[in-house]
Amino acid sequence: MPKTVFPRDFAWGVATSSYQIEGAATEDGKGESIWDRFAHTPGTIKDGSTGDIACDHYHRYQDDVRVMQSLGVNTYRFSIAWPRIVPDGKGAVSPAGLDFYSRLVDALLAANITPFITLYHWDLPQKLQDVGGWNNRETAYAFADYAEIIANHLGDRVKHWITHNELWCTVFLGYSMGVFAPGIRDSKIALQAAHHVLLSHGLAVPRLRAAVGPGAQIGVAPNIGVFYTHSAKLEDQQAVRRIDGNMNRWFLDPMAGRGYPQDMWDFYGEYVPDVQAGDMDIIAAPLDFLGVNYYNTSLIMDNPDGDDLKIKGVPNPDLARTADREIEPQGLYLALTRLHEEYDFPAFYITENGAAYDDTLSPDGRVHDVDRTAFLASHFAQAARAMEAGVPLKGYFVWSLMDNFEWSQGYTLRYGIVYVDFETQERIIKDSGLWYRHFITYSRAALPEPITKDQQLLTE
Ligand code: FCB
Repeated sequence: MPKTVFPRDFAWGVATSSYQIEGAATEDGKGESIWDRFAHTPGTIKDGSTGDIACDHYHRYQDDVRVMQSLGVNTYRFSIAWPRIVPDGKGAVSPAGLDFYSRLVDALLAANITPFITLYHWDLPQKLQDVGGWNNRETAYAFADYAEIIANHLGDRVKHWITHNELWCTVFLGYSMGVFAPGIRDSKIALQAAHHVLLSHGLAVPRLRAAVGPGAQIGVAPNIGVFYTHSAKLEDQQAVRRIDGNMNRWFLDPMAGRGYPQDMWDFYGEYVPDVQAGDMDIIAAPLDFLGVNYYNTSLIMDNPDGDDLKIKGVPNPDLARTADREIEPQGLYLALTRLHEEYDFPAFYITENGAAYDDTLSPDGRVHDVDRTAFLASHFAQAARAMEAGVPLKGYFVWSLMDNFEWSQGYTLRYGIVYVDFETQERIIKDSGLWYRHFITYSRAALPEPITKDQQLLTE
């Protein structure tokens, strides 16, 4: 019997997010989000595109569930568009919005696919941005209300909930570098926004737990950076420590109950956020799992002339590349083992991992994305290695189910294991998707079937 490290109940899934796939930007009473506004602002998106239609998933969700079924996945991570549920961010709730996600959940359950819901994957209601967005403390309370509304509606059927996707990207790409919505460039605002995002997470966790009831599994999905030092020089090592503090520890330490890391608090100086009494206890709400979004490593050196963090990322000459990143499967192992050693989370899921390549449709009607298959296989092996080293890893979500609107890169990067023809909206499972289906089947088939009562009787 071949031995496999992935247990029978391992979650093999695919992931997406609302703005990247849904389209139907103004339908059924949906409110405007900051990504609607941002993408429609000239100069923000590489190919000048928007998510107005995207994969038209809002109208094609049943077909997409069928595609997932043929991929053989047993889990699906998707996000809820807050402005579909509460169009103005707070106040009136849209029954049509609730109904859409309810129908999606029912279709998934009928297909034996377990839904994992992300509450915030960057599409903040524009009405909240008009009064400061994440820089306004009120947004944290509005988020907790919205979380409770949707959990009251779906919590009877959905047990797995993720508060935030990639908190660092929300605040630093959105409020400090301005390359993501809402396009603000102000480091002081970004750190205050980070505090409110963390606070919103902590406020939402107990309310989700109460609304979902027994069996609730609640976590968060930060992007995890793995950084290599460019040299053994002390300055470069300290630069690595700073970027790690900025991207990883600034978020993980508070959620793990340790407060903000002192070295970064000192480093940020006058930029540190306003923290009210009791906030850090709220943020430390116990979690059931940590989601890990992992894509690549970065080679870092000290850069005294740089902005804020005084660091510079340099290309790693040893690594091959996808269309947009360096490939380093070992980084996934390093991330998982480090998180397990340093933080006390009961379980882990890889909530995102995947690759973009220049996929083309071949004359035979297929997409021969052998590079993506190799990418996934090598990362799965590192996940297995981490499990053998004792990391309680429970699942793996490939980013992404299908090609979609890749934020500021528009439709120029294809991350799907399913190809989307954006003219016709046809979906074609890429070779990597066929391989994933084979892999999931095989990793289960390799396990002995549990002996049923009837079989036991027969053998007695
Ligand atoms: C992550 C995002 C996801 C997608 C992938 C490629 O940072 O969470 O929405 O854009 O990158």
